[in-house]
Amino acid sequence: RGFLARATALVAGGLAYAVPALTGLAALLNPLRQKSEAGEFMRLATLDTLPADGTPQAVSVVADRNDAWNRFPNEPIGAVFLRRTGAGQIEALNVVCPHAGCSVQYEAGENKLFCPCHAASFDLSGKRLDATSPSPRDLDTLDAEVRNGNEVWVRFQNFRTGTTEKVPEA
Ligand code: FES
Repeated sequence: RGFLARATALVAGGLAYAVPALTGLAALLNPLRQKSEAGEFMRLATLDTLPADGTPQAVSVVADRNDAWNRFPNEPIGAVFLRRTGAGQIEALNVVCPHAGCSVQYEAGENKLFCPCHAASFDLSGKRLDATSPSPRDLDTLDAEVRNGNEVWVRFQNFRTGTTEKVPEA
């Protein structure tokens, strides 16, 4: 009888460890989570709403967000600059400054992108304009494409700030 009791205790103890471990594994393997980490194409605008002269246009990114327990519909998750670069061609930049995460703005007077926090300047393609820029890298480009002739789709992704490398945020 002692053996049976010990065996039962062992199995119960093993289960106590296995359940949280398997739950963690399920969270890691959850396809929704993987999808958001890798970035996914989202329809953000139509081509005809963007200036034909290539002036950047800031567009908010709104998406449903999921965590382990809840679903948060239509939450702002970031913003991008969209810019027409030719017939049916589009460029997209994340508006977040790679230095410390402030939002970069378009300066129409100087036709450049500017971060008001520590004065980093970028050209319209996101390249740093100053050799002594506080930003450790250029603005983060995003994959963008025009579908069905007029829909602007962007693979939205946020990246770590303060690093020279472009590292996707988990
Ligand atoms: Fe943009 Fe510092 S956060 S320059």
